[in-house]
Amino acid sequence: MDILSVKNLKLYYRTLYGLAKAVDDVSFTVKDNEILGIAGESGCGKTTLGLGLVLRKPPLIWSGGEALIENINLMRLDEKSMRKLRYEKISIIPQYAMDALNPTKRIEQIIEDLLKEHGQRLDQKWEMLLEKLSLVNLSKKVLKMYPIELSGGMRQRLVMVISTLLNPKVLIADEITSALDVSTQKAVVQTLYEMKEKRFMASLIFITHDLSLLYQIADRIMIMYAGKIAEISNTEEIINNPLHPYTKALIASLPKIGIRYGEAKLKGIHGYPPNLLNVGNACRFKERCPMAFSKCEEDPPVFKIDEKEVACWLYEEGGMD
Ligand SMILES: Nc1ncnc2c1ncn2[C@@H]1O[C@H](COP(=O)(O)OP(=O)(O)OP(=O)(O)O)[C@@H](O)[C@H]1O
Ligand SMILES: [Mg+2]
Repeated sequence: MDILSVKNLKLYYRTLYGLAKAVDDVSFTVKDNEILGIAGESGCGKTTLGLGLVLRKPPLIWSGGEALIENINLMRLDEKSMRKLRYEKISIIPQYAMDALNPTKRIEQIIEDLLKEHGQRLDQKWEMLLEKLSLVNLSKKVLKMYPIELSGGMRQRLVMVISTLLNPKVLIADEITSALDVSTQKAVVQTLYEMKEKRFMASLIFITHDLSLLYQIADRIMIMYAGKIAEISNTEEIINNPLHPYTKALIASLPKIGIRYGEAKLKGIHGYPPNLLNVGNACRFKERCPMAFSKCEEDPPVFKIDEKEVACWLYEEGGMD
């Protein structure tokens, strides 16, 4: 069953130089109990997509398409209605979660205010709150503290509790492991996984540029490039049998342990993504693609091959080996 269904979504930034098409005609679904990973290099629109589903503030504007949760189109809600749905239907652990807490309030107050906004009281949720705190290895003492009294790691784990306070249908975790060492990364991912097993959220969108981490936890992976979806497939296929030339390049560029720089040439992806203010009509990867041909002057639609989706003209006829 689909929990979230995003269709032809466009989220643009209004800038002095025109519209930056950071999310441009993106369609995907997230199923119940699923972990969808979103990857792609810096600036491809991952945060814009995640944040845009939950909270749209100028200069970010909705420019078309829809995002449905239980038949409610999130894009059509005003801020007041969205406040009601936030945390209940869709919630986010933002990219810089450590700084996301109001510094002037004690943690207990932050939680109480949030519950009040949703017509609930802390005493009704007390047991559940203690269970969630203990899952992220925090004592209830933190409730009496101000955010500044907690370490960055503690704050981040607290944001994990707060964002799942009302057991959202969809939880979006945006780069929550990027600033952490590998063993802490593993613990955070393990905790998120346990939270999902306990149904603290029905489904999880996990955004990262770390494909090896996604390989460990994601059911499916969506690769984004310059505001578009390049490819969506199940995790095993994306990693072992990528279709899109960009996905292939991304996987080939992963650093391998045991190989020193200079011994083997690191296979980066040459060139840079296009300027999102001026994307033109061609495939956005064309300038960097080793496989580009005449057809690529036109932006490719998404081709479906079995369970896979790939936006590349090489697959126009329905697939090739
Ligand atoms: N406030 C803004 N105004 C104009 N353009 C913006 C704004 N915020 C982001 N952008 C542009 O939107 C594009 C997508 O940015 P976004 O932060 O969504 O990328 P990302 O994939 O999350 O990158 P990263 O991996 O670095 O977190 C980038 O080109 C960025 O420059
Ligand atoms: Mg980001």
